[in-house]
Amino acid sequence: MNILLLGSGGRENALAWKIKQSSKVQNLYVAPGNAGTHLIARNVDISITDFPAIKQFALENKIDVVVVGPEEPLVKGIYDSFINDQEINHIPVIGPSQEGAKLEGSKDFAKQFMIRHNIPTARYKSFTIDQLDEAYSFLGELEAPYVLKADGLAAGKGVLIINDLDEAKRELKEMLGGMFGDASRTVVIEEFLSGIECSVFVLTDGDSYKILPVAKDYKRIGEGDTGLNTGGMGAISPVSFADETFMKKVEERIVIPTVEGLKKDNIVYKGFIFIGLIEVKGEPMVIEYNVRMGDPETEAVMLRIKSDLVSLFEGVMTGTLQDKTLEIDDRYAVTVMLVSGGYPGDYEKNKEMSGLDSVTDSILFHAGTKLSGDKVLTNGGRVIAVSSYGETKDAALALSFKNAEKVSFDKKYYRKDIGFDLK
Ligand code: AMP
Ligand code: GLY
Repeated sequence: MNILLLGSGGRENALAWKIKQSSKVQNLYVAPGNAGTHLIARNVDISITDFPAIKQFALENKIDVVVVGPEEPLVKGIYDSFINDQEINHIPVIGPSQEGAKLEGSKDFAKQFMIRHNIPTARYKSFTIDQLDEAYSFLGELEAPYVLKADGLAAGKGVLIINDLDEAKRELKEMLGGMFGDASRTVVIEEFLSGIECSVFVLTDGDSYKILPVAKDYKRIGEGDTGLNTGGMGAISPVSFADETFMKKVEERIVIPTVEGLKKDNIVYKGFIFIGLIEVKGEPMVIEYNVRMGDPETEAVMLRIKSDLVSLFEGVMTGTLQDKTLEIDDRYAVTVMLVSGGYPGDYEKNKEMSGLDSVTDSILFHAGTKLSGDKVLTNGGRVIAVSSYGETKDAALALSFKNAEKVSFDKKYYRKDIGFDLK
């Protein structure tokens, strides 16, 4: 098969690594890719939202399936752009339709979906600027802290959690007035849930589903989960509190109603569902849906999938996922993200990297790198994910930390406490 994978982060490097292990793959292309995907696939200089260029490339290179890494092309309707075009509607896209992608693209849509299908989630109401008084009185009914969410995509910055009621009202007014552009013209206000979070990944063909290894990510820049939010500083799989009893509840109360709900609502969905969960007194509740794999969770989760991922994709493409087996590696898999000093604030790029070849007992997934001649340069805030296996969480982490030291670039930073809150 010829596969085109869209994206350029650590998630896509990990997906490419896993896809490449399949004997079914003839050519793997990554658009636009990075210096890591360049080592195992052919990078193609096409933007992930340039649908006409993606179409042309797919036709010229006899692409058999398009795998979508990030949410943006999905929310912009890449699935529909293939299915509605006679010249390319024979090429399956792994990902939801544009309607399905609203589970991530609109928080109000996602909340309505959960309420409609009885999926446990925080109590909420949505408001626009002409409902400011109602919104203030709803805030008054809730207890601090107050959770305000821009309805649309806001580059991961659209959620505010505020302790003081007056400040929450001020921020709400700013949001509705366009603080995040059109993304916050509607704001979801919801009850604060207190608990520990994890990420559950589901692959579905729209009918049956497979639950992939569960993971926990670490979003804050500082140790002990302090400081600013980032794109993700590390991840661990499996997650100690997401045991069999918990996961049974997740499957029965959340995964099945989600897949069935999509069917009932006639929403076409053949791809990954990422369910952001919080455990509240032993019970799982949904914080959010994403319509893709997580980053950096994928850099751990892919290590634990023993089965051929491309065979699972074939199951999605042909509606035969239920006939496929998903074998999971029992070992721990962890990833530790090396980032540029200053990130998530201002940071410098184009730092020369060294030591990459000296790492043999971890897997390096490039997140923000580029090639310049035969040199690898930093090209982003998150630079490289150091992923390792281990019989225990600590053994896997020890390998990643050891190898984090071997990879060098000016002002490198990483968290040394990934997994600190798990058994
Ligand atoms: P989201 O963009 O929806 O993932 O929200 C970002 C983060 O805000 C989540 O990962 C949670 O840590 C936190 N969060 C979102 N909603 C709630 C909530 N209702 N209660 C507590 N924390 C929340
Ligand atoms: N790790 C969280 C995300 O990918 O959105």
